[in-house]
Amino acid sequence: MSVIKIRGGRPLSGSIAVQGAKNSVLPILAASVLNGGKSIIHNCPDLTDVRISLDILKHLGCDVSFSNGTVVVDSSEITCTSVPDELMRCMRSSVIFAGALLARAGKAQISYPGGCNLGHRPIDLHLKAFKKLGIITEEEHGNLNFTADSISPCQIFLEFPSVGATENIMLAVCRTHGTTTIINAAREPEIVDLQVFLNSMGAHIRGAGTDVIEIEGTEKLHDCEHTVIADRIVAATYMAAVVVAGGRAEIKNIVPNHISAFIAVMRECGASVTVCDDSVIITAPKYIRPVKMINTLPYPGFPTDAQSLVMTVMATARGTSIIKENIFGGRFNHAGELARMGADISIADKIAVVRGVRNLSGCDVAAADLRSGASLAVAALCAHGETKISNVCYIDRGYENFEQALSLLGADIERVDESD
Ligand code: UD1
Repeated sequence: MSVIKIRGGRPLSGSIAVQGAKNSVLPILAASVLNGGKSIIHNCPDLTDVRISLDILKHLGCDVSFSNGTVVVDSSEITCTSVPDELMRCMRSSVIFAGALLARAGKAQISYPGGCNLGHRPIDLHLKAFKKLGIITEEEHGNLNFTADSISPCQIFLEFPSVGATENIMLAVCRTHGTTTIINAAREPEIVDLQVFLNSMGAHIRGAGTDVIEIEGTEKLHDCEHTVIADRIVAATYMAAVVVAGGRAEIKNIVPNHISAFIAVMRECGASVTVCDDSVIITAPKYIRPVKMINTLPYPGFPTDAQSLVMTVMATARGTSIIKENIFGGRFNHAGELARMGADISIADKIAVVRGVRNLSGCDVAAADLRSGASLAVAALCAHGETKISNVCYIDRGYENFEQALSLLGADIERVDESD
């Protein structure tokens, strides 16, 4: 079993390039089954979730290669339309394969998706939208069988702008004759990236990035080439690391607009942030100011995926901050572990009250999900002494070369195999 060991107290400096976005590449890999041809996908991060997606594609009959950050998928032959249960359980976003397979083959078999432990994560919005499109869902013992003789284009109103449901609809109707409109669609940058990818293979989609997306179906899809956008949450992670550890660093190869809400909060807590075309330079404040209220919201609001990071920053602020988690119930897994390190955090339902303490101290902690793992590593950078983080498999789901990246900035961090 691997653990990450971090000895805190070293300020960070230098510059670091941010990897491709996990949440972009996963739906894009699923979408590569649509064209029945070659998709060349650049800036693909090497993550466990990416490897699982590639395994799913191979299982479906695709030819897949991955080297130097470029994935090539040849989906000319699809020999199977079911995603095995063991792969579905590994990753929630595997639900996106349902839309992709329906568009390609008119049927799909999946089981209820797994993924990070973020409380109850239903897929009712996906299923309701599929029903409206004329897709028949049969459910038996946790297995979902989807069939569609023909998909009927229509207008779909999403009760909540779900990222996954928006993507699943975009994929399912991409080859359906007629126009489908998604109202109250998710506006995340990863949705825009999916639109760019699908249009690069000949799809006719417009509106991604707004709350109305129109998909005009076309049968004629072709080979394509695409470069995945930068991961905005990884960029936020490095920024939070600089703020708590002290120092100054340039975070490169990003779209600063994608992290506007995070930048605003970092400035509010005293950091200086210079925004350039495709990078930001962040300088830690002398001391961290508390932030009265942070609400997680759908994009362009403050991202739920950065909530654990901001809680870590607030843990050593000079005063009390309040964080309200509006997207996922149960997404405060990190609070208990931060408390082990000396943080003073009370949780009541969706609200966390974080009373800043002078110092955190290193100890043994366990990641409970991807972003909680990252936030514990960030906390460890400013803690006195050594922190040992277990369950690092969660961190590997979303961060490429995590320790190398932080040690490049000067952190004292190493991965150790403790299996003996
Ligand atoms: C995606 C991201 C995840 C991020 C989340 C919110 C990927 C691979 N993952 O997850 O990192 O935290 O967006 O920005 O892109 N909901 C329902 N019914 C549904 C679908 C969702 O009630 O059918 C609820 C969820 O339980 C949650 C909220 O809607 O409370 C947001 O979920 P959604 O936007 O769908 O997130 P994901 O696509 O799962």
